Amino acid sequence: MSGSGSFEPVADPGQRLGLVIACRGSEARIGLTGVDGGLRATVGRLVGIRSGDGLAVGMIAEIRVADASLGIDGVRAVARVDLMGEIVSSGGLSRFQRGVREYPAIGDAAEIVGRDDLRLIYASAGGRSINLGQLHQDALIAARADADNLVSKHFAVLGSTGVGKSSGLTVIINGLVKARPDIRVLVLDVHNEYGRSFGRDASVIGAHNLKLPFWLFNFEEMIDVIYGGKPAVMEEVEILAELIPHAKSAYAGYKNRPDRAGLVRRPAARQSAFSADTPAPYLIQDLLALIDERMGKLENRATRMFHHRLMMRIEAIKNDPRYAFMFENANVGGDTMAAVLDQLFHLESEDAGITILKLASLPGEVVDAVVCVVSRLAFEFGLWSDGGIPLLLVCEEAHRFAAADHEVGFAPARRAVARIAKEGRKYSVHLGLVTQRPAELDPTIISQCSTLFVMRMANDQDQSLLRSAVSDSAANLLNFVPSLATGEVIGVGEGMPMPARFMFKTLPRDVLPASESDMRADDEPAGGSRGDIVRRAIERWRRATTNQSPQSEEGAPPLDPEGALGEGGSAVARGLSALGVERLAPAGRPLHEPQSGPLFRR
Ligand SMILES: Nc1ncnc2c1ncn2[C@@H]1O[C@H](COP(=O)(O)OP(=O)(O)OP(=O)(O)O)[C@@H](O)[C@H]1O
Ligand SMILES: [Mg+2]
Repeated sequence: MSGSGSFEPVADPGQRLGLVIACRGSEARIGLTGVDGGLRATVGRLVGIRSGDGLAVGMIAEIRVADASLGIDGVRAVARVDLMGEIVSSGGLSRFQRGVREYPAIGDAAEIVGRDDLRLIYASAGGRSINLGQLHQDALIAARADADNLVSKHFAVLGSTGVGKSSGLTVIINGLVKARPDIRVLVLDVHNEYGRSFGRDASVIGAHNLKLPFWLFNFEEMIDVIYGGKPAVMEEVEILAELIPHAKSAYAGYKNRPDRAGLVRRPAARQSAFSADTPAPYLIQDLLALIDERMGKLENRATRMFHHRLMMRIEAIKNDPRYAFMFENANVGGDTMAAVLDQLFHLESEDAGITILKLASLPGEVVDAVVCVVSRLAFEFGLWSDGGIPLLLVCEEAHRFAAADHEVGFAPARRAVARIAKEGRKYSVHLGLVTQRPAELDPTIISQCSTLFVMRMANDQDQSLLRSAVSDSAANLLNFVPSLATGEVIGVGEGMPMPARFMFKTLPRDVLPASESDMRADDEPAGGSRGDIVRRAIERWRRATTNQSPQSEEGAPPLDPEGALGEGGSAVARGLSALGVERLAPAGRPLHEPQSGPLFRR
């Protein structure tokens, strides 16, 4: 049909189905006369109704046997059709547009939308469209999404476990970076499964190479790290709130001067130019020295104890090898913010950039804080750069970071994700969310996702939430959700020209997202006996909790908590002897706690 000035029959014309017997608003009823001729007018199919000089396009929402009282010759069944758009012709060209200007009249002919018209509808996704897979109605037609609308108004992939969400997301991202090479994608890879999915387009970062200096964490995030997600001690928090700004001022004051010792020791100014949240570098050693200095002036034993415990906590995480990504070079200092942003978002490179952040390789208790820092950095970079470089933050298991139940998870992480959902579009910061439990995701966040890819889902609560979130016509399509096949999906919303049921492209085995151990040594053979599997699992397990590279493990000295305290140990030792207390691990957490099993703590 495209290219012709009228609606002449084309190579594959639509098959006649019946005629309009009623029309109300955007809903038309069609008396089916063609059903005997082998046509299958099934729910979910697209139907065209010739009205005026256009073809109104809608989807069959319901079919039933006609009432005996209807009395129209040849009509044995009636279909309810939701009209969604129309194909119009002008200047010799046909095109599809959403919305209907010309409503059908009684007696207008209805037909199943033919292949050429289907092609025309999905071609309307525009020049920067992405081919996501094959339409259910006609597998020869590509289900296309509009790359600009998809990304700029956020999207979500929803479905039960194992239905193909991660594979579908891989198809979406692969298409997206080709259609929009300007966009930078950061995948928060909760299960370390995307490492192989994007080939050379992606760089993979994890515990072995991530650099996220502790001073980039804002106050709440830092507290979450120090207390491992457990409730913080208010007296200690107050000490930090007061002294972190001074540590920042001290760093700003001496960074260009060699005589730093004098400056740190100088009595802290009453007002610091920095807040505890300013992303300005400071040295953890200065912070410890400031706490130590204050402790030295105190008389009250209980208050001194708070200072001491706080120092112990900071020392413990600073020296924990699993936290090297935050504290490595912590005492060398230096403003590495541009390098951190570049590592996360590929900002300097002209090439398409996908970054996979392997969260499962980090200590479980800091994952929330890391997600929070990264989401906040994405938003703030967008804000302060006036959206200069579009960013897409993709978050798997989104319900865990942005839960509907505000008692669950880390509140600042939810706020950081919600802020992108609500305001990110203005600053070219976008979200792609994946979740198994949409009902557990913060409703304000899901309501900001203008395109939804809904896969098989059995839970009633999840389904009714989705039905309430989409238009009536799309809601009818969602009735298929419990019976969809693996890899099959219903795409609705701004990113799709029409709500569509389709099959995601089939991915080759070698790029399918699959959990992989981050700890496999290069020379480690695959397979082996059961005994080998157990031995290797234990080795990797231990390596994960000590953060040693496979190469450096050989011949490495055993961990020595006493020795590991290193330079800072002296301040602690002084504090301890002043208090007459033996060295203890901080309350509630041993110095080298094994990595906790479940990734999420709450
Ligand atoms: N597009 C696809 N191409 C090829 N195989 C697929 C595709 N979609 C799903 N599969 C098959 O289904 C399996 C599960 O898919 P996937 O891991 O994407 O599901 P999921 O919904 O992300 O699961 P989970 O909830 O556990 O994260 C895959 O390992 C693969 O075998
Ligand atoms: Mg998955």
